[in-house]
Amino acid sequence: MGRRLRRAVVLGAGTMGARLAAQCANCGIEATLLDQSGELAAKGLQAAARGKPAAFFLPSLAGRVKTGSFAEGEAALRKADWVVEAIVEDLEAKHRLLGEVADAIAPDAAVSTNTSGLRVSEVGAALPARLRARWLGTHFFNPPRHMHLVEIIPTPETDPALAAWLAAELDLRLGKGMVAARDTPNFIANRIGLFALMNTLRLMEQMNLSVEEVDALTGPMLGWPKSATFRTLDLIGLDTLAHVVRNSHANLASDEHRELYRLPTWIEALVARGWLGEKSGRGVYERRGEEIWAVDPKTLEYHPKQKVRFSFQTVPEARRGQPFVAEALSGLFAYCDRRLGEITDEADAMDRAMRWGYHWTWGPFELRKLAESGTVPERRPGREVRRNAGCALLDLGDGIGCIEFRTKMNVIGGDTVRMVLETLAGAEEFEGFVIGNGGENFSAGADLLYLLALIQNEEWDEIGAAVDAFQGMNMAIKRSGRPVVAAPFGMTLGGGCEAMLHCASVVAHAELYAGLVEMGVGLIPAGGGTKEMALRADPRTAFETIALAKVSNSAAEAAGMRLLRRGDEVIANRDRLLRAAARRARQLADAGYAPAEEAEVTAPGPSVASTLKLGAFQMREGEYISDHDLKLAYRLIEVLCAGGAPAGMKIPEAKMLELEREAFLSLCGEAKTQERIAHMLKTGKALRN
Ligand code: NAI
Repeated sequence: MGRRLRRAVVLGAGTMGARLAAQCANCGIEATLLDQSGELAAKGLQAAARGKPAAFFLPSLAGRVKTGSFAEGEAALRKADWVVEAIVEDLEAKHRLLGEVADAIAPDAAVSTNTSGLRVSEVGAALPARLRARWLGTHFFNPPRHMHLVEIIPTPETDPALAAWLAAELDLRLGKGMVAARDTPNFIANRIGLFALMNTLRLMEQMNLSVEEVDALTGPMLGWPKSATFRTLDLIGLDTLAHVVRNSHANLASDEHRELYRLPTWIEALVARGWLGEKSGRGVYERRGEEIWAVDPKTLEYHPKQKVRFSFQTVPEARRGQPFVAEALSGLFAYCDRRLGEITDEADAMDRAMRWGYHWTWGPFELRKLAESGTVPERRPGREVRRNAGCALLDLGDGIGCIEFRTKMNVIGGDTVRMVLETLAGAEEFEGFVIGNGGENFSAGADLLYLLALIQNEEWDEIGAAVDAFQGMNMAIKRSGRPVVAAPFGMTLGGGCEAMLHCASVVAHAELYAGLVEMGVGLIPAGGGTKEMALRADPRTAFETIALAKVSNSAAEAAGMRLLRRGDEVIANRDRLLRAAARRARQLADAGYAPAEEAEVTAPGPSVASTLKLGAFQMREGEYISDHDLKLAYRLIEVLCAGGAPAGMKIPEAKMLELEREAFLSLCGEAKTQERIAHMLKTGKALRN
């Protein structure tokens, strides 16, 4: 089907419906959000627009979603390519609504439900026969902007071509990860996730473990989220858990572990007291001032959270060293084995569902491989050509190489610089390059730990050499005769952002959190980032982007900050990013790529510099910024305004780089800058001193 998903109607403006409509608007799909009344729909939309994390890429996108009552939705329903039901989880209510709107739905539309607990085929029973082939489940996870998984649940009556079309559109346009599931209770991710949880609670009781011990054992050590078991439950709400457990017990009549689906008495008691978690101020944990307290399941009294440390770090070690982990994992693996053929035929579908819907680093079958043999198959996009300790060069095929950062947080240090320089200067192995990686973030910036060590040892020459090397790397990217395309996603900060700014073109993931944040550590961008901003933005925009250490909330916002240029591409689905960037590099190479001519910054002149300085001074007077911030702002303005050159004078890039370098080196000598760097390394947060 060559048809494109252009218009969507979302029925129900609650937590999920409003955010689903927001994600449609984010991705350029015309969305109409309906509820019992126009006011309810508008209120739901507002809640999504104001809530955190932000549901919209840009605040202005909320204005693109139309709202109204179900009764007013007729015209939108007639034109919709996709109608998705996301009202209250109640079969009768869903039947009534679908019965009411069915007549207005176009015969070729896809119609789906977001139910998490009801049978998709039962919900669809209210539809006329002509729509049953168009009917299926699309189970999104909350929040739909940030959770990758969508379970696609066809019924026996669903037209397979329709299901395939909708899955392809949700993948390509909404950027989601599709997993086909059978119409069985809780589908895939919640079925496995709830088993893992209930089994954990059972073992906790049996082995007499504390809340803190369970959380230490069921978090990052197993590749599960940091919020582990109980912090996650506090976030979801213990009342919601109680509801899900009750439903699962009722619906999972043939599950061999049905009796597991009963809440432990201590959690029931917390619910009875109204201690439901985050939303009621306390649950399993309670925040008391700066401290976190944890509940004792036996007495229901809270105590300061105990630190728990285990000597084992890896999954195989944990499995050998801890009866809890050994039993939890073998129970999980056996349960998943038995679900094959029931909830899906593919182990891989379960793995993806758990990675995308529950943020597990490894799905259950991958985890088993890891527990048994200590290794999991790597998910690399191409063959490795060579590597050093912090960076690798991969072959993506079709003449395109990939420079992959491989450090903690993908910080850029000497290894990266060497690999890039060597690769770009080397033999003509490839016709174009992508800078990208499969980590959690593109890059958190330059290696601050190394910089601080140099500062503390007063190795000023070394620092100068490091700045030269970094500038050299970025200029080599910009000047390369073969196109280098950046494929940034997630955090793309400081030095990572500067590298991106020097690429021939950018293919960015829509979830791009980019920024030149050097001011936060008392420095200015000196890898060519200040120069690039002076080249591409007006002085005020360049100043604000850098001085406020702004970080974009999306690629759309990064474009507004001039971190992306016209012609750069934005891709909704992260899984498609490297491929798309490789295609872009290929296209540029095929079009006879030549790097841009040596650029020149037009000096804005002393009067613009004075205006910017006055603005910064007033910020200081109003006590919005500190003395050190003011000093940094002045240094930045001097560089952006080409060291006081007269208005209109053409300044070569090399001169701008020299100015950046000078400012950077002098700031490294400032005590307050050193405090900022140390604080960032210790806490991950910016110090405003
Ligand atoms: P919600 O309670 O936030 O919103 C439900 C909406 O339904 C409200 O806007 C309400 O006005 C409307 N509504 C209530 N009674 C109605 C009726 N009789 N007729 C028509 N509309 C009515 O619910 P939420 O959390 O957004 O869930 C919606 C659907 O999505 C449910 O089927 C739920 O199982 C499913 N779901 C929820 C997830 C979550 O984390 N909240 C995750 C995945 C699926």
